[in-house]
Amino acid sequence: MSAAAQDFRWPPRLSPDAASPPATLVAFDTFAPCTGRVRFGWPAAEEAERTPLSRSVSDDGGTTHHVLRLAGLPADTPVAYRAEADDGAASPVRVFRTPPAPGADVSSKFVFHGDMQGGLATPSRVVFPYIEDLVRTMRAERPLAVFQVGDMADEAYRTHGAGAEAWNDFFRLCRDEIAETYFLPALGNHDCPPVPEEADEPEPARFDRRAGLFHGLFALPEPLGPREAAYALAVGPVRLVVLNTEADIASQNAFLARELQRGAFDPACRALVLMEHRPPFSSVHYGGNEDVRKNWLPVFKRYEGTLVLSGHVHAYQRFSPFAPEGPVCLVTGGSGGYLFDEPSEAADRPDFATTCYHCVAAEVTQTDMICRAVRSDGLVFDRFAIPLARCVRVSPVFPEAGGEATVRFTLPEDAAEETGMRLLWEADGGGKTRTRKMERRGARRFATRIAIPATAREKISFRFAADSARLFDNAGFGWQALLAV
Ligand SMILES: [Fe+2]
Repeated sequence: MSAAAQDFRWPPRLSPDAASPPATLVAFDTFAPCTGRVRFGWPAAEEAERTPLSRSVSDDGGTTHHVLRLAGLPADTPVAYRAEADDGAASPVRVFRTPPAPGADVSSKFVFHGDMQGGLATPSRVVFPYIEDLVRTMRAERPLAVFQVGDMADEAYRTHGAGAEAWNDFFRLCRDEIAETYFLPALGNHDCPPVPEEADEPEPARFDRRAGLFHGLFALPEPLGPREAAYALAVGPVRLVVLNTEADIASQNAFLARELQRGAFDPACRALVLMEHRPPFSSVHYGGNEDVRKNWLPVFKRYEGTLVLSGHVHAYQRFSPFAPEGPVCLVTGGSGGYLFDEPSEAADRPDFATTCYHCVAAEVTQTDMICRAVRSDGLVFDRFAIPLARCVRVSPVFPEAGGEATVRFTLPEDAAEETGMRLLWEADGGGKTRTRKMERRGARRFATRIAIPATAREKISFRFAADSARLFDNAGFGWQALLAV
């Protein structure tokens, strides 16, 4: 870390430009209003300090919060940059890698962690050496993106400083990580200042106030979801949907379905990840969150979601609620807050659970998401792989009422070959099931076109019946397509 880097109020952090990847956003904050600038260039040499930073972008000045957009970047390429401000603040030269082109035949790496809470385990402001080790371990993975499941700071409880200052410890610990890889967070209950109980405000206004700083810190995609801290975007081969457990849960269901559908039927998307702070299941401490389990999990299953990432519980737990089918539900709340190991009253049974400071490193290949749970000292204590095969594809991705859609079905790996297949579908849950015989498109693949009724308003749901009488219904939830965005 250079001395100059400390001149920023909060140091540079990277976000993907969701609307036009691989364009990239660099955000940083200065103490006084001034002009911010980012110099950048590629290819980034091994010794980044010598890399010519031939391009630059500036803002209009007069602000302490700077968000600069790096445009014209090539895909899957190391890019070097340095953030500067007119008040004299300057970062070291940083190098990050842009995401691969959509559909490119390459693997991408990710790191997941949560509940850092500034990395200060006690009110005495002592940083556990484990946490500094963990930060080094995560950096060594060199991921394309970090997904942080919430509670980065400790603002809500003000144990480590009041208001925005509570974020200083997080930025000090993670300054390398957030400057060298796309950093995508979920809002945790510690990440927003508490609104006094007596505050006479309607709930949306109370919530917007609480989430305001979170969005001021991170350059998150627009438009956001139904509540400010919900957002979705593609990061390489992953579609990430981030929801907010500190707001009303059910009101985010429709946003979740729409954003999952964008990924589920997009051939360039290999994995769907839902990230939210409070876990659907937990065998220790708080237990799982029933609202998350009842509202979001069925929607996620309906779109063949890959992984649910949560924190809040300071431990590591892996669940497979629909085994042998996906998704996997992972609790990764061990990157800094004091650890939990007492059993919860819930009867939730994890496939694997332990308590230690850790992160999860994931590699998304053409066929699998391969995950390693890594302790702060580098020990790999759990490994698992989630197959990325998808049974159902619909095109267009959002069918129109009165239009047509093609529905494709691929038999799951554990199913025997079938001679024929029928599509059973229903519009708007009206109870009128329609049937279409599907064309055979290969040993295990079938397809058909259907006319969407002009009267259909919300969604169509699918089940598939084989000649052998086996019914494929996605664990009873039915696959789903919404009619329009
Ligand atoms: Fe929490």
